[in-house]
Amino acid sequence: MAVLVTGCAGFIGWKVCETLLREGTRVVGVDDLNDHYDPRLKQWRLDRLKQDGNFTFARADVSRRDELWEVLRTLRPQGEEDLEAIINLAARPGVRQSIVDPFKYFQTNVIGALNLIEWACREGIPRYVLASSSSVYGESCPRPFREDARTDEPVSPYAASKKAAEVLCHAYHYLYGIDVTVLRYFTVYGPAGRPDMAMFRFIRWVAEGETIRIYGDGEQERDFTYVDDIASGTVKALELSGFNVINLGSDRPVTVNEVLRVISAQLGKEPAVSFLPPEKTDVRATWANISRARSLIAWEPETALEDGVRAAIDWYLENRSWLKEINI
Ligand code: UGA
Repeated sequence: MAVLVTGCAGFIGWKVCETLLREGTRVVGVDDLNDHYDPRLKQWRLDRLKQDGNFTFARADVSRRDELWEVLRTLRPQGEEDLEAIINLAARPGVRQSIVDPFKYFQTNVIGALNLIEWACREGIPRYVLASSSSVYGESCPRPFREDARTDEPVSPYAASKKAAEVLCHAYHYLYGIDVTVLRYFTVYGPAGRPDMAMFRFIRWVAEGETIRIYGDGEQERDFTYVDDIASGTVKALELSGFNVINLGSDRPVTVNEVLRVISAQLGKEPAVSFLPPEKTDVRATWANISRARSLIAWEPETALEDGVRAAIDWYLENRSWLKEINI
């Protein structure tokens, strides 16, 4: 069996590939290695994946249909059962940046999702997993967020693009019977994380003695979820059939100020903090209800915040020489 993972050099994609490879699954990885954030991070992750003989890589942009389909045609293993599933983790990520170029977000997150699910249906690939986001719950959902809550009031182009991809995939499931699982991830963090996200930035800023920049008062809450837990839940989702929407979150929301306290305590440094105006695209709080993940895929988040932060800090310190130069 082989699984196609798009966005394989991304933060979550890399971990999902690693998890599949560890289980002995062959992985076909696709990524365009774009410069939305420093590509050195993507290359670092990809170099690790390439060490596994069960991993095949091709560079392609999921939003460019002809090119993508040509690449997929040539990559597809011949004369065997071949592709069991597509896990679509290729995305323009980041809530706040999505107001800068919303078109790119829709190109990748919606047209890219469409190109992949259309191809899957034409090629008879039975299963499709879509990476979605806690941001679809918007600002007014009761917490903890349940998957059956209303999600039609997103507050950023990013969240709107994820919601659009979700409903598009529902239409394909209805029309062609493809099994679809939509995973709503909650603020994922860990080693080799994205440099636009709070966890990476705070670790770097505290470690290097730079001033911390917090949007708003820092009392906004996030259900920070460790990347290995996210990867294991994503791989488990391959067992499901039908159409499912599942939250993957740690069910332990903490404030941004608290995360900074944990990082500072572990690094043994007291940073200077600058509080900036709040970002309109940021929701005040997230919190996942994870009963569905527990019952459908027997998933449980296993990593406590302190342990996850420790792993992210260790990784930063091991790679400090080049990470302190990364543009954030
Ligand atoms: C994250 C990811 O960036 C999204 O791609 C993902 O879809 C989303 O989680 C999700 O839950 O689905 P976000 O929650 O904004 O989005 O995560 P961070 O970028 O780590 O920000 C967390 C909080 O820290 C936000 O309130 C943000 O305003 C704050 N922050 C972030 C700062 O105060 N300063 C910074 O420099 C960065």
